[in-house]
Amino acid sequence: MKRIICLVCVLCGLTTIQARQRQNFDADWLFILADSAQMSEVNYNDASWRRLNVPHDWAIEGDFYVGNPSGAGGGALPGGIGWYRKHFRIEELKNGKMEELQSFNSSNFQFFLEFDGVYMNSTVYVNGQKVGYRPYGYSTFEYDITPYVKEGENVVAVRVDNSDQPNSRWYSGCGIYRHVWLTQTAPVHVKHWGVKVTSSPPKLGGARGGLNKGKISMEVQIENPSESKLSVRNTVISQEGDIVADQTSPNPSYLGGEFSLTVKKPHLWSCEDPYIYKVRTQLLVAGKVVDEVETTTGFRDFKFDAKTGFWLNGKNFKINGVCEHHDFGCLGAALNEDALHRKLTKLKAMGVNSIRSSHNPPAPELLNMCDTMGLIVMDESFDMWRRKKTQNDYARFFDEWHERDLTDLILRDRNHPCILMWSIGNEVLEQWSSTDSDELTLEQANLLLNAARDASTLAKDGELSPNSLLTIHLAEIVKRYDTSRPITAGCNEPSPNNHLFKSGAIDLIGFNYHHEWVKDVPKNFPNKPFIFSESVSALQTRGFYRMPSDTVYKAPKQWWLPYTDPSFMCSAYDNMHASWSSTHEETWDVVKHNDFVGGQYIWTGFDYIGEPTPYGFPARSSYFGLIDLAGFPKDTYYMYQSEWTDKPMLHLFPHWNWVAGDYIDMWCYYNGADEVELFINGVSQGVRKKSNHNSQLSTLNSQLNTEYHVGWRVTFDPGEVKAVSRKDGKVVCEQTIKTAGPPAKIRLSKDYQGKNTTFITAEVVDKDGNLCPWADDLIYFIGEGDGRILGTDNGCQTSMEHFTSPQRHAFHGKCMVVVTGNGSITAKSPTLEPTWIEFTVKE
Ligand code: GAL
Repeated sequence: MKRIICLVCVLCGLTTIQARQRQNFDADWLFILADSAQMSEVNYNDASWRRLNVPHDWAIEGDFYVGNPSGAGGGALPGGIGWYRKHFRIEELKNGKMEELQSFNSSNFQFFLEFDGVYMNSTVYVNGQKVGYRPYGYSTFEYDITPYVKEGENVVAVRVDNSDQPNSRWYSGCGIYRHVWLTQTAPVHVKHWGVKVTSSPPKLGGARGGLNKGKISMEVQIENPSESKLSVRNTVISQEGDIVADQTSPNPSYLGGEFSLTVKKPHLWSCEDPYIYKVRTQLLVAGKVVDEVETTTGFRDFKFDAKTGFWLNGKNFKINGVCEHHDFGCLGAALNEDALHRKLTKLKAMGVNSIRSSHNPPAPELLNMCDTMGLIVMDESFDMWRRKKTQNDYARFFDEWHERDLTDLILRDRNHPCILMWSIGNEVLEQWSSTDSDELTLEQANLLLNAARDASTLAKDGELSPNSLLTIHLAEIVKRYDTSRPITAGCNEPSPNNHLFKSGAIDLIGFNYHHEWVKDVPKNFPNKPFIFSESVSALQTRGFYRMPSDTVYKAPKQWWLPYTDPSFMCSAYDNMHASWSSTHEETWDVVKHNDFVGGQYIWTGFDYIGEPTPYGFPARSSYFGLIDLAGFPKDTYYMYQSEWTDKPMLHLFPHWNWVAGDYIDMWCYYNGADEVELFINGVSQGVRKKSNHNSQLSTLNSQLNTEYHVGWRVTFDPGEVKAVSRKDGKVVCEQTIKTAGPPAKIRLSKDYQGKNTTFITAEVVDKDGNLCPWADDLIYFIGEGDGRILGTDNGCQTSMEHFTSPQRHAFHGKCMVVVTGNGSITAKSPTLEPTWIEFTVKE
């Protein structure tokens, strides 16, 4: 791509000064988990502080402790106040290019420090002077540090205060947990987030003649203190690197302007073919390029229709989405691009085509990846407005900061082709007119949020309540900066008299749960499109099965009742869910068979730290995920794969290690076949078809329109169980599970190889290599070479082992070690044969 830029400049005879230099500022910070006002001072002695690179999350390094104020809901990990300091020399930043620029314009340069995310309450000082404060832990913010920097050594100090807890209903992490950037520009430069690009494809059906053109509309805002005469050049570059549109506009207003470019036969952006263009914006003064920024865009035509659901580029399909929190299991909240890419890759393989950034602005890298991987995004702002859900949450900052935070979210994200809707809030308590929320504990809030209120708390006809007005106000902030996407909100009050719906400002009706109310949506919300902004909340522990599998277990039974079970586990058959939610099959059946339902966002794709519903401590991570915290898929992952992908597959479960004579329910998800036959030690147990409602255990719930699995209740007999699927009599897929003998050795394999981070699976197997499904051996990982162990995990929601520890018990036979760099890992356990594996950096 660099070659193309140079080529562009040479061809046009322009001199590029490259005034703008954006450099990563992550390396060599000093950190201490302590607090003193003097820590901001230039000469503060920080020699003993720990040296580290950000992104960093100090909470993940801590102990699980029932007394930590985050509570089990926050992962029972510590909070506190921490400081980061970084020493840097401004000359090193100049990179030699400054001299050139100085000769062009003798005035000084501008320096900007940008934080993608600091959780939370951060105060930034440069050379001892306060530069700014930002409470919301998920906002990206930039400071102009030009007045504070000087020649020679500079020091930036950041105080991060996450001591007032609980302030989140899930694990937030603590610290500078996303990237930091330092940008230098000339005084004349494009403003931060100052480019808006809207790409409109040709009208559908207008493939002939002049209609076959895409339009790019742009707004560029410029900082131009000395009112220099300038021109703006916009160049559109295809994914192959070709210039497909180019325009120089002399004399826009000194502060920017609006531009329009045409792209012939634009290649559309879609989930299957996420084609992106780059728009390069250059500012020219006296023929010299003084600033240059690049924006990603994509042409796509989409709509949500009240009768037919979601459409993208003329194709009608369901949004098959998942909600995701931001943590990476044992790596905590610290952004790791490899871990993020692994998450998205596993979700895509399941058939997921959309992500909801619940319930806050995501890392910019998530949006970049979704742009290029073809994942649609619902970009969400807040989990609460003025009314709090936990004692110290963002509600206390809402009045002062919501406008700034929401504005910044839209400005930062609006150019991403992947974003197709904005959510202005999740289950905010303003859906109702009054609530006792101020007195709620975290647990009570979680439970209450999912129980609809009585009619007296809903909006009255003909009245625009303060809560409706607040909804309108937030929607207006969004529309001020982007009118190209609908506004939605995750609502768990399905009545049209919900104050948010009543405002009329919600373009896309979003229900959280309440699948049983969906049939009334066309009647209650005439002409409004609809989506499940959040769905399912089924509860599962990988590898744990509660029989009989055709009984559905609710936990808790009613939202106000506590739930306990000594196992601290939830069943991995699709037969356990919270009282406000459903099985996966139930909600998917409603989505699949109702055309007006645009799709759903399942709660959740991956398990996350915190919110261990239905349990309390020592449970400390969630049960909702289709994939466990370590990244191992649970069985229901394959139900969606069978429905959402075309590649023939078959998934048989559970394992085949039981007590002789036990009755066992065997389930099978499959696609691309007419039937499945099950064999135990070669003896047929019968043929099942998903369409046959009458077969024994064929589905859990005969009221479903379609069946999503087949099942057999069989008697356990050691040996092997085998499922064979057939289409037109020909075998499509088969799977055999053997009874494992005693644990004998460890098997290591690569789960995911990123650029710098490798995820390695350790399995406890018998002498013949069969997975031992009950094994919980303690495995020690010993690294050699330049590599480093970043963390370990096994997906068990109650494990009290340190996430950063190099040893981990297997859980249902498996655990994961995450490493970085180059080297090898040896896995040992007292009674098992050891093994080792090499890992390398990809680039
Ligand atoms: C929803 C909420 C999510 C999560 C989920 C658990 O009500 O939006 O954040 O708490 O319940 O079922």
